[in-house]
Amino acid sequence: MTLPTTIGIIMNGVSGRMGYRQHLTRSILPIREQGGVLLSDGSTRVQVEPILVGRDERKLADIAERHGLTEYSTDLDACLADSRWDIYSDFLVTRARVSGLRKAIDAGKAIYTEKPTAESFDDALDLARRAARAGVKNGVVHDKLFLPGLVKLKRLIDSGYFGEILSVRGEFGYWVFEGDWQEAQRPSWNYRSEDGGGIVSDMFPHWSYVLEYLFGSVTSVYTTTATHVPTRIDENGIPYTATADDAAYAIFELDNNIIAQLNSSWTVRVDRNELVEFQVDGRLGSAVAGLFDCRVQHRSVTPRPTWNPDLRETHDYRADWSLVPDNATIDNGFKAQWEQFIRHVVEGAPHPFDFASGARGVQLAEAALRSAESGRRLPVPEISLDVPQRETVAL
Ligand SMILES: NC(=O)c1ccc[n+]([C@@H]2O[C@H](COP(=O)([O-])OP(=O)(O)OC[C@H]3O[C@@H](n4cnc5c(N)ncnc54)[C@H](O)[C@@H]3O)[C@@H](O)[C@H]2O)c1
Repeated sequence: MTLPTTIGIIMNGVSGRMGYRQHLTRSILPIREQGGVLLSDGSTRVQVEPILVGRDERKLADIAERHGLTEYSTDLDACLADSRWDIYSDFLVTRARVSGLRKAIDAGKAIYTEKPTAESFDDALDLARRAARAGVKNGVVHDKLFLPGLVKLKRLIDSGYFGEILSVRGEFGYWVFEGDWQEAQRPSWNYRSEDGGGIVSDMFPHWSYVLEYLFGSVTSVYTTTATHVPTRIDENGIPYTATADDAAYAIFELDNNIIAQLNSSWTVRVDRNELVEFQVDGRLGSAVAGLFDCRVQHRSVTPRPTWNPDLRETHDYRADWSLVPDNATIDNGFKAQWEQFIRHVVEGAPHPFDFASGARGVQLAEAALRSAESGRRLPVPEISLDVPQRETVAL
């Protein structure tokens, strides 16, 4: 088989926060600068050629000029019809995603997309089925798995360090400013459910693949959500009603009896080492993994606390943990994912993070929101691409 020397990539939504920062400047441009993606033979490289796509020609021209690129377009249909472009990639606001992905499937392009793949599970599953039927290669962002802290955690799990894993406790979050006296750090659509916002639809697609890849498949979810900050100020200084959840408190049961509890919040102030931290407790040892670091405490060095509210604690519990060494250079996760996907497209390298995985993420978010509405723990059934979907039903 002759491998292509260049692969053409339609980058839709490249002017947005994720499209510009993570996908263009931290992934595709560095891949171009390094001469392309290295294939499995260890010597062949496939170069990437992007075309920037969006609605605002001026913005696209600016970005192209800033980065020495020549191809940009506001006509997605024309790009999809052009055989120079092999991959369609999508970083639009979630609401605008499904129609572009469907068109790309119909055009027979390989597709790589931001998460969530769709706003509803029905649409996400339909996309996975259409892509499977059309035989187009497809992939979804799964960036959290490339966080150095989680890479080290996975290494610990694979080494058997934990023995039986009992539970996982995760804290994700930070304070997102309301936008009055300090600008908000996230776009305002994130806080309006009518625009596809909400922390559940933003973060639960991540928790789905993180839990599945590291620990086990989610079989049930119980969630309470809140909109703790009811009004915010948008990018134009105009107040708006925050209709979407800005915090979610969830308990997940996994298929191997591990219990995971994850708090996700844009309304907490950080008293942690990192913006996300997962504590994993196993029979033989525990670990706390964040974005970069992973600390461990083996059973052999576990202290023996005794509860005594009358005496001030003198033991430094934090000092009982030790750092897991890096032992490897870990590249930017977004870039590494792009390289993984391009290898999948060019030489069929495995890529389990496909539209079905994306659909499981949307399914989990949807089940979590239904759980919050009903106050009930809900099952998260296995999905299949060939038989009609089963409804998520109340227990
Ligand atoms: N992987 C991650 O960690 C991560 C983090 C944040 C956001 N995201 C996801 O990335 C996507 C983009 O988020 P963002 O923070 O970059 O948002 P953003 O608002 O900064 O960018 C959105 C892009 O969509 C375009 N757009 C907006 N409305 C549109 C419409 N109606 N039709 C066509 N284009 C439209 C905008 O012009 C812009 O280019 C979302 O789906 C979000 O869930 C992923």
